Amino acid sequence: MTERTVFHLTEKEMPDAWYNIQADLKTPMLPPLHPGTGNPITLEDMLPLFPKSLVEQEMSAERWVSIPGEVIDIYKLWRPSPLIRATALEKALDTPARIYFKYEGVSPTGSHKPNSDVPQAYYNKKEGVRRITTETGAGQWGSSLAFACQHFDIECLVYMVKVSYNQKPYRKNMMELFDARVVASPSDETDAGRKILAEHPDSPGSLGIAISEAIEQAVKDENTKYSLGSVLNFVVLHQTIIGLETEKQLALAGEKPDVMLASFGGGSNFGGFVLPFVKRKIDGESIRFVAVEPASCPTLTRGAFAYDFGDTIGMTPLMPMHTLGHDFVPSPIHAGGLRYHGAAPIISHLRNQNLIEAVAMKQTDCFASAVMFAKLQGIIPAPESTHAVHGAVKEALRCKEEGKSEVIVFNLSGHGHLDMSAYEAYLSGKLLDGEFSEAELQKNLANIKII
Ligand SMILES: Cc1ncc(COP(=O)(O)O)c(C=O)c1O
Repeated sequence: MTERTVFHLTEKEMPDAWYNIQADLKTPMLPPLHPGTGNPITLEDMLPLFPKSLVEQEMSAERWVSIPGEVIDIYKLWRPSPLIRATALEKALDTPARIYFKYEGVSPTGSHKPNSDVPQAYYNKKEGVRRITTETGAGQWGSSLAFACQHFDIECLVYMVKVSYNQKPYRKNMMELFDARVVASPSDETDAGRKILAEHPDSPGSLGIAISEAIEQAVKDENTKYSLGSVLNFVVLHQTIIGLETEKQLALAGEKPDVMLASFGGGSNFGGFVLPFVKRKIDGESIRFVAVEPASCPTLTRGAFAYDFGDTIGMTPLMPMHTLGHDFVPSPIHAGGLRYHGAAPIISHLRNQNLIEAVAMKQTDCFASAVMFAKLQGIIPAPESTHAVHGAVKEALRCKEEGKSEVIVFNLSGHGHLDMSAYEAYLSGKLLDGEFSEAELQKNLANIKII
């Protein structure tokens, strides 16, 4: 009999609560600060941007947060997502390691993003919000929010980073199909966009700039709220459904993970995937967690731990996080969702506590592993997810060298069906690795408060 390769859960086995690691931290996180007063942010400070239920989740220390029934009903369109053993990859690498991946590309929009878009749209609707603004990099977050907003009959306005807007026209079409309005950022629709364009008319945009534009629109209109696709505690909280399902599926497979990896942009798929297991590490189990980020935007590996803004113009609270400086505009790599200057405060905190590791990889190396993976396993990874694939391949080769049969589990955060221009560039030798110099880093860090 051949060994089982796909581990499915039934709908009934889907977790009905998200996991909040705040309840289990031995050392509490530093609070975000109000940039005007320098005092910790209060619930009231955040209400112009987010509905109250989400702000409460942001500040909650409760271990479990119930998933509303209406959210579970939508999750059931694609969840529970499968855990798959990559037997063909193991064989090709001739490694004694056993490699598993959790596949989030089965969602309606092709990534993990709707795990948080759906609850964010739900809570906004419950509190009477009529329009939501957001940023998007490669378009995965924006298309998922557009999907969730049309479900709850909320208007959706998406600022899409200009370089991705031009690289990925089908993502824009997808958002429009779901009734969203999509604007290339920086745009001349906001003060923030106009300021950037005046200084840098050819700016390729960045997530930080798009966030400034989306926040500005929310602050100007009381019927509009803002939605963020990563970084914040409540976003990572929603994404823990990935790790909670993975725990059950690894139990079905009779496995205990030795190393878990995920790509790292702002930290939501990495955090959602590993946090339930970090609890086990805090309790004494030995597991490694590796965040894989791009060498051209190396937030966790080279950024400073500082109080910095989440956006470029400086409209968000000051967040305690690893950052490359809010002015940083990363090179236009194809993994648009990883082009963010900051890291989720919760992940930054775990890094400071040595509970997680981080590595930076070149985009061309990541695409090489992704092409091999696609040929062997039949799934074309999103450019962001190629980083997790490459990280897992490197771990499997290490196991081969050391003769260790470890269990490697990675999160394949999305598929790349709408990112084929990136693969075309890679296959024709036109994909370049962005440079990131120490001088640039020091220049960007000059004006922020290093902790
Ligand atoms: C498929 C995919 N994976 C990963 C990421 C990185 O974001 P995060 O670190 O919040 O998971 C993105 C962001 O757009 C994405 O689209």
